[in-house]
This record gives sequence, structure tokens and C-alpha cells, in this order.
Amino acid sequence: MVVGLATPSGRFSRRPGGGGDATAREGARRYSTCRRKGWVVGRQQALPARRLSLCRAEGFATRVYVLSDLHTDYEENMAWVNCLSTEYYANTVLLVAGDVAETYKNFVTTMKMLKDRFRSVFFVPGNHDLWCRREGGSFLHSLEKLNALLDVCRDLGVETGPGIVDGVGIVPLYSWYHESFDKEKDISGFRIPSLDTVCKDFHACKWPHELSPRDTSLAQYFDSMNDNNCNSVQEIQEKSLPIITFSHYVPRQELCPEKRMLFYPNLPKIIGSDLLETRLRSIHGVRGKPSSCHVFGHTHFCWDAEVDGIRYVQAPLSYPRERRRRMNGGTDWLPFCIYHGGLTDRLTPCWWSDYYSSNKRDPDNVDLAPWVAKFYKQQR
Ligand SMILES: [Fe+2]
Ligand SMILES: [Fe+2]
Repeated sequence: MVVGLATPSGRFSRRPGGGGDATAREGARRYSTCRRKGWVVGRQQALPARRLSLCRAEGFATRVYVLSDLHTDYEENMAWVNCLSTEYYANTVLLVAGDVAETYKNFVTTMKMLKDRFRSVFFVPGNHDLWCRREGGSFLHSLEKLNALLDVCRDLGVETGPGIVDGVGIVPLYSWYHESFDKEKDISGFRIPSLDTVCKDFHACKWPHELSPRDTSLAQYFDSMNDNNCNSVQEIQEKSLPIITFSHYVPRQELCPEKRMLFYPNLPKIIGSDLLETRLRSIHGVRGKPSSCHVFGHTHFCWDAEVDGIRYVQAPLSYPRERRRRMNGGTDWLPFCIYHGGLTDRLTPCWWSDYYSSNKRDPDNVDLAPWVAKFYKQQR
């Protein structure tokens, strides 16, 4: 997702370090410079090549990496994927939480590259993956494209259903957003563009006539796809394994900043699904467990927060311009390791979830944040 988003100030991403073998040393050098100057509080993600080979040789515990919003229609992002090490991740798992690419061709190229690098790759589709506008009429509608993506994943050995990898249960959850997910007070008194104007999905996706993004039909359709996986999920639950669920969309509104903080205050109407939260709670348990984790994407905000007993994490690659604006050149980022023999330490810094860890959410406050107010005044 995409629409003008705001970030509290901060200079460096939480994933400093090299973007692959070729850049690892340079990344590590820059990281240590930044760290010395006190600009970084996150941990180093890239390890020098010698230590990487030791990691493999010593057979460290299973590692699960997460990533969303690759958007490899941007050459810079495709190059980022291509730069990921073909050795370091060879015995690891990657969860891809949607928005890989807009075109089928770029999707296939990207997934091939990921499968060449990671031992196991799991995928759920995002909105951009189902856009039809640049497919030259190859797909009648977005569901037909969805089937084509699932078919090619199967051919490539990319998992699109639940599975157990080295004692960790992985559950992809299909979903789509619905407007009624937004329960918070609207911002008024400003010329806020309509959803039709801002959200390209309404034009770039095509749906059979019985499905619409303006009601709950699409959200229900995608949620019902998960019913096909009930037996596999039950098997994972019966083994009492740690479970990581993942989706493209947002399961709870408090995993997005308050409307007054956003350049597009109506963003919560096009990001999430209540059905998704119900679905993941049915898997992790209503109160969650210490090992419960759900990974999501779509809003392009880094996020890591525990809510009602479940840890929710977003680790997007995002658009090149977003990385430049907010994260100081995210080409140095690497996928985030969420599981290494157990859930890993928090992703940090995550500007917004860090903010809400010490500031109470106040959705009844509709006074625009200063940077948003300035933006709308300029629009007049
Ligand atoms: Fe995205
Ligand atoms: Fe998205």
C-alpha cells in the first residue's frame, strides 16, 4: 500500500548491513560507522562471509525469515532480490507476505530467484499481485490470475498452503480488505481524496460481478479459501508446534497509525479484514501463546508489537522512494529473521509500533498531526 504515509523522525533502518554477498562487507562497514555515531539501535543483519559459512557448518537451528511488499516491478527492488546471497539462506525458510510484483512475468522471475536462494519459500498473494492492467488481456479477471500464480508456485516448489518445516508450523492465510474494518472516527473538514481516486486496486483488479471491494464479498471469498486448509492446520495444532501465520493484509486496526497521523487518513478503509483476525485467533487460540506470531504486510510500515498474546510483525521491502524517504536507503536491508530456534528479538527500530509502545492510541482525537495539517493546508 502506498498512499502518503507519515513517519516519526529517524535516520536509519533496523536492518543495516549488506544486501548480499557482494555488499556484505560494505554494509557491515557502514553499519559500524553508523553505530559508532549512535545513529543505529538495531542489530546487524549481515554477517561477514566467513561467519556465514560457520553458521551453516555448525548446523544452527531452523531459521525463518519474513518479507513483504517486494514490488519487483521496480528494477531497484528486483536487483535487491537478485543480490540476496545464494549461499547464506540455503538452509532457511522464507515467508513472502504478498505484493511480489504487478506483472505475472516479474512475479515468476522473483519467485524463481527466491526459491534458488531459500530452502523453503511460502507465499500468500497481495493486491498488486492480482492487478490485471498490464497483462495484455491474458487473464479474464483477478481470480484467474490468482489461479495462475498458485499454479506457477506449485511448479516452482513454492508453498501456498500450510506446512511443517523443521518443527515449525507455517500457515499462509488468504484475505482481502473491507471498508468496515475501519471502526475509528473519520477526519472531516479537509479535502481528502476518495478511495476510488487513491486506491488503484479499484481499477487495476478485475472481479467477477458477484465480488466487490466496496462490501465484504471479497473479504469473505478470500477468507473462505482458508477452509480448504483446515485439516492441515488441525494437524499442526495437534502436534503443539510453534506456529507462524502470515497474511498480506492487516488483521487489527491498531496495527496501523491513527488516521490523524496519516497523509491519507482513510487508509484504514483499504488495509484490513476482521475475518483475518478471527481466522488467526482460531489457529493461535483466542489468547495466543508465547510462541504465537502473525506476519503481515501491505501498509509498508515496519511493525513489531504484541497484542492480546500474539506477536504481530511487518517487515516490508517497500518502494524505493519510501526507503529513500523514510529508511535511509533500504537497499542495505535484508529479510528479517523472525524464528531461530524460537522467536527472535523484536525488529527494531519500528518507528510507529515503537511510538505506540509508549503513547496511548487516541482514535477520538481528530486533530491532524502537524505534518498532515501542513500538507492539507498546502492543498487548498
Ligand atoms: Fe505493497
Ligand atoms: Fe498491498
